Amino acid sequence: MSYKLASIPGDGTGPEVVREGLKVLEAAASRAGFGYTLEEYDFGAERYLRTGETLPDTAVEELREFDSIFLGAIGHPDVAPGVLEQGILLRARFDLDLYINLRPVKLLPGVQTPISGKGPEDIDFVVVRENTEGLYASTGGFLRKGTLDEIAVQESVNTRKGVDRCLRHAFDYAQRPDRKGELTLCGKTNVLTYAWDLWWRAFNEIGDADYPEVKREYAHVDAICMWFLKNPEWFDVIVTDNMFGDIITDLAAMIQGGLGIAAGGNINPEGTAMFEPMGGSAPKYAGQNKINPLAAIGAVQMMLDHLGEREAAGWVEGALIRTIGDLDSLAAGRMGKTTEAVGDLVACYVGEVA
Ligand code: IPM
Ligand code: MN
Repeated sequence: MSYKLASIPGDGTGPEVVREGLKVLEAAASRAGFGYTLEEYDFGAERYLRTGETLPDTAVEELREFDSIFLGAIGHPDVAPGVLEQGILLRARFDLDLYINLRPVKLLPGVQTPISGKGPEDIDFVVVRENTEGLYASTGGFLRKGTLDEIAVQESVNTRKGVDRCLRHAFDYAQRPDRKGELTLCGKTNVLTYAWDLWWRAFNEIGDADYPEVKREYAHVDAICMWFLKNPEWFDVIVTDNMFGDIITDLAAMIQGGLGIAAGGNINPEGTAMFEPMGGSAPKYAGQNKINPLAAIGAVQMMLDHLGEREAAGWVEGALIRTIGDLDSLAAGRMGKTTEAVGDLVACYVGEVA
């Protein structure tokens, strides 16, 4: 077996954490016995500042051909906010139709959660976020822009096809052997009565017809924010729209120990997928060998899982847990080890864990 992989190290500390992630990938591949090819792309702030290009059209066509893409981070103080996010990340999501945003939220042993009284047995759920529609569809417009009578309309686009494919992916996920078979729809049926009416109907129709064994729950988005802090153990798999998913997954990242550990995937289940650490490019730590690479390594774990290398993904998780036990803290500059040393350690443990 050989996979066709791409990396986009990106900006700031992105290249440093990607380097460690790739080290771990190499260790996992050699133990599991699969091969891969790796192509590196230089998209990010530097290329944009040099050429004005974010993600060229030809690149989109090339990226489509990879089994998976590993993204470090994008963002630079010299580039206006939004340019790279829209030009690279959102463009890839839309043009490659990466319609699932997957965010596992798991508190690994040894990681601190700000929620007192909760431990790894309480915090282990997955958010399946719709990734190509909703408020991110960018439809709407201005009327009388720049005047005191200005009107700005931003619409949430929810297609039956888009909602169905996201829900089906979430139902399938809830049936994985490592999940509990419970799916919570997170919405706002009491106020947003068009969008969430469609989601609610689709959720129940699909559930009744094709997933009768999956237990269905519903939570309003505001209430789920309370429950994440009070009763995170209630959740197994959560499915929601693009905007709510964006918001609740940042809250969820904090309860699993923060951006030093959280990873996510942008996935087209029938095509390519892109995995990334959730933390930004942290320009102030760039090039210092101080940033924590664990989230990027978590992204590699997700990539392995997505490729079907579930055993290898398990080794990476086991190695992450062992490594966390060797660190003083997850915070940049306070790990008690360099970025590189942490990557070496995880790679070494990947060869040893059961
Ligand atoms: C995320 C990010 C992106 C989003 C930004 C960078 C456009 O916050 O992946 O959650 O809003 O989706
Ligand atoms: Mn976000």
